[in-house]
Amino acid sequence: MDVTIFGSGYVGLVTGACLAEVGNNVLCIDIDPKKIDLLNSGGVPIHEPGLEELIKNNRDAGRMHFSTDAEAGVKHGLFQFIAVGTPPDEDGSADLQYVLSVARAIGQHMETYRILVDKSTVPVGTADKVAAAVREAQAARGLSVEFDVVSNPEFLKEGAAIEDFMRPDRIIVGTDNPRTAELLRALYAPFNRNHDRLMTMDIRSAEFTKYAANAMLATKISFMNELSNIAEAVGADIEKVRIGIGSDPRIGYQFIYPGCGYGGSCFPKDVRALEQTARGLGYDPQLLHAVEAVNFRQKELLFKKISDYFGGDLKGRAITLWGLAFKPNTDDMREASSRVLMESLWAAGARVQAFDPVAMEETRRLYGERADLLLAPDAVSALDGADALAIVTEWSQFRSPDFALIKERLKSPALFDGRNILDGRLATAAGLTYVSIGRLPLIPA
Ligand SMILES: NC(=O)c1ccc[n+]([C@@H]2O[C@H](COP(=O)([O-])OP(=O)(O)OC[C@H]3O[C@@H](n4cnc5c(N)ncnc54)[C@H](O)[C@@H]3O)[C@@H](O)[C@H]2O)c1
Repeated sequence: MDVTIFGSGYVGLVTGACLAEVGNNVLCIDIDPKKIDLLNSGGVPIHEPGLEELIKNNRDAGRMHFSTDAEAGVKHGLFQFIAVGTPPDEDGSADLQYVLSVARAIGQHMETYRILVDKSTVPVGTADKVAAAVREAQAARGLSVEFDVVSNPEFLKEGAAIEDFMRPDRIIVGTDNPRTAELLRALYAPFNRNHDRLMTMDIRSAEFTKYAANAMLATKISFMNELSNIAEAVGADIEKVRIGIGSDPRIGYQFIYPGCGYGGSCFPKDVRALEQTARGLGYDPQLLHAVEAVNFRQKELLFKKISDYFGGDLKGRAITLWGLAFKPNTDDMREASSRVLMESLWAAGARVQAFDPVAMEETRRLYGERADLLLAPDAVSALDGADALAIVTEWSQFRSPDFALIKERLKSPALFDGRNILDGRLATAAGLTYVSIGRLPLIPA
């Protein structure tokens, strides 16, 4: 089938590459000429495991093309996927300007029936706005061509996006047209062979399902973070509590890790957008508000712990950060906890010495060259001469470090484990002061 994807970011490229892999002819459109040039010259603008190879194979096989030409995109695909960004507006609601500009472009150039498939995360009611924008653009041309708008929210996880797309837990198709549902079913059939995971529903419920899923996941994290702070205050160990409660199948072990807060391009903005939607309708969403507020506070916790350790005086100190991406296996730093920590350290007059396996370039892009930021070539050299080490992202390579070496390289023996990934007893045995999230303090040997 011929498929056009508007937006060549995390969602657009993964969707495009996976649809091309099963035999479709995919044209990816983006307004950023640098991204398209890079893709056309064999590069990939983001880090996502397996994506580069998948794109290369399908580009070489002639099933995947890249362009900035929206008109060509509209002409190409029966399916017109919208996978552009929906960043937060000033008040936290989703900014729909990119989605609606794609809708207008489709209305301006379409000549035959098209299915607009909305993969971007958008507030309930957006499909109606998309349809209105298409109709308006058609009216300006003095014509009316049939089209459908489908809500098909994406649930992939960065870092495991290809696996998630190839073997999805669910494929949500929101449409009021049974014929369109069948066409989507045919497009998704290769990803739906094991058992039927495609669920059709009305458009509004589909749009809402995505927000509901992210709000639930964010709630689990903030709940555990709240408990970790209480555990610390009462002298309990949140890791023991986690194992204790996870054993109840109604709770489960997944997604109940305490830490230094959630980031990324989805949870923070989607929880805020859902909150704004509810407020706009006169409902006070107290739980959603608390989920974000707890997370905001949690992202400041590592700084607070480091500052307390140094008696509130961080001026002239150097702090090492291991991990900058918002989670492992991605270079995405949108709303990353590392950014809150770095910016607080700088504001307090400290220097940052940082290492991340893949997010160094992104850090350079975000912060540029500055005297108080050293981007080290590897994790160990990031320690040299620093006063303390903070682990911010739970990359596998940080899980079993040489504690003696850390002790030797640091000026003062302080290790702040923002993701509770280390064995504090080993750290303490090596003479380090080990500070984690919600666990009992350990006294150095
Ligand atoms: N990243 C994720 O893990 C994830 C998961 C599920 C859903 N989503 C949702 O999917 C959407 C896209 O997210 P993303 O992370 O891929 O964003 P992204 O920022 O990585 O990519 C968006 C791309 O859209 C392009 N764009 C903007 N306007 C355009 C236009 N008019 N025509 C063509 N391209 C245009 C931008 O240049 C950019 O390359 C968002 O709504 C997001 O909430 C993201």
